[in-house]
Amino acid sequence: MATREIDAEKPVERAAKKRALNIPPVKVGDGILHDQEKYYSREFMDREWESLWSRVWTIAGRLTDLKRVGDWFTYKLGKESIIIARSAEDRIQAFYNVCQHRGSQLVNQDFGHSMSFVCPFHTWTWNIDGSLKRITDAETFPERTICDKPGLSEMRCETWAGFVFVNMDDNAPPLSEFLAGLPDAMALYKMEDMVVVKDYSVNWPMNWKISLDAFMEGYHAHARHPELVRMIDDYNFDYEVFGNGHSMMTIPMWTK
Ligand code: FES
Ligand SMILES: [Fe+2]
Repeated sequence: MATREIDAEKPVERAAKKRALNIPPVKVGDGILHDQEKYYSREFMDREWESLWSRVWTIAGRLTDLKRVGDWFTYKLGKESIIIARSAEDRIQAFYNVCQHRGSQLVNQDFGHSMSFVCPFHTWTWNIDGSLKRITDAETFPERTICDKPGLSEMRCETWAGFVFVNMDDNAPPLSEFLAGLPDAMALYKMEDMVVVKDYSVNWPMNWKISLDAFMEGYHAHARHPELVRMIDDYNFDYEVFGNGHSMMTIPMWTK
């Protein structure tokens, strides 16, 4: 790996300083490739759904995509499709993208603007705030089957720094508790002022943890991104670990 002198401390001095702080080591599991199963096992993936994805706050999108009342976008997480909508000037709501009549998917687009959602199957209709607006030929239903006037099924939705988060677990702690020390650490970056300039998604035929693992290390930079090594100090990536498993990786840039 190419090395060169920079203004920053030498790695050895830096490591010694960190050791002097006596930070308890982070538990990182018991090996590098000892638990391959988590990358391909269907059963492990099901467990991830049960104990992780359906219980944590995840980022569904940005508030800049919900400027006007009636703006909405969809967010897919595992087997669920979720509608995130601005239902009032001061209100963002999240709904399962599922009709309450016979379970048809309500909307198919990624983004939209409307004050109601019309089911494509039998045209039952919901207001942008999830309340029921219309049942087609309501008089043909026995009163007892529609008297609850079913609203869309809602899930928890909170925002931080322009990000819209959702959580399917009614018993999960509030977003601020989940984020722990992250907002303080991120304050410097003023994420609330960021706007989306390009919406880009790729599908990789791999387990999600393979890509995450690669994005959490700079060890491969010299081999896979040699052009970057001229700009970044790939020997001195810095990691901070906050509560609840959040972490931040800082990539130093060469100063000269
Ligand atoms: S399934 Fe949606 S209106 Fe019937
Ligand atoms: Fe990379």
